[in-house]
Amino acid sequence: MNTLSPPAPGCELSVKLFPVTCEYIKGEKQFYYRAQQFYEEVEASEEGMMGDFLEISHVDLEGSRQFLKRFVGPGKAGTHCALDCGSGIGRVTKGVLLPVFEKMEMADMMEHFLLHAHEEYLGDDADRIETYYCYNLQEFTPPKNKYDVIWMQWVACHLTDKDLMNFLFRCKKSLRPNGVIIMKDNMARQGCKLDSIDSTISRHLDIMKCIIAKAGLEVLEVELQEGFPEIIMPVWMIAMK
Ligand SMILES: C[S@@+](CC[C@H](N)C(=O)[O-])C[C@H]1O[C@@H](n2cnc3c(N)ncnc32)[C@H](O)[C@@H]1O
Repeated sequence: MNTLSPPAPGCELSVKLFPVTCEYIKGEKQFYYRAQQFYEEVEASEEGMMGDFLEISHVDLEGSRQFLKRFVGPGKAGTHCALDCGSGIGRVTKGVLLPVFEKMEMADMMEHFLLHAHEEYLGDDADRIETYYCYNLQEFTPPKNKYDVIWMQWVACHLTDKDLMNFLFRCKKSLRPNGVIIMKDNMARQGCKLDSIDSTISRHLDIMKCIIAKAGLEVLEVELQEGFPEIIMPVWMIAMK
């Protein structure tokens, strides 16, 4: 795939995407390096995962549980195995996914988060985590044909357009029949917005939809997370297959 490939159906912005991110990010290596530096200083705790907004974690998890319900069950995605990408310590794994799936896998670039998940945070449920992948998602290829659900929360914003598109493309191949990918992330009210402190790029929902289309995925449903304070950037959930 490259920037000159014909636009995916319904994706008029597609050829502009990579330049869009480049304009904002100015140096991909630095973008990833800064995120690495940022998370090295972040405590392996729910507070660490939520930044300054621990108080919204309950609302967030409840919104996710309700959204997930729509895609799992008879005739829909199975409940055998899910993958939590950018899992951190497993806040979503614990609060949303483990109650639904028999087995789980987690992927995150920071070893201290995954260790904390296994040794403490997940308690006895850690026995149901089949594999912890300590990888950068931009370099990670999940196993083929394995997952009923792949969850990506607050991590798409850490990838460049091109890396995100390629990662989604690889994720598609790792879904089981009827499987879905669910992304939940901050979406800019307009265009793209770079935060150089934690090295995130937030995109408008339409830009995200174009990346998804370019990855060969079909959007099934989108929903705005309700109940978050106004000062927070809108958080959207997107289910795709
Ligand atoms: C804001 S935390 C969210 C954690 C979890 N998804 C949650 O909602 O509680 C972002 C997580 O993404 C991970 N992360 C950031 N960039 C990454 C990358 N390029 N590859 C893999 N993990 C990454 C960080 O280590 C961190 O655990």
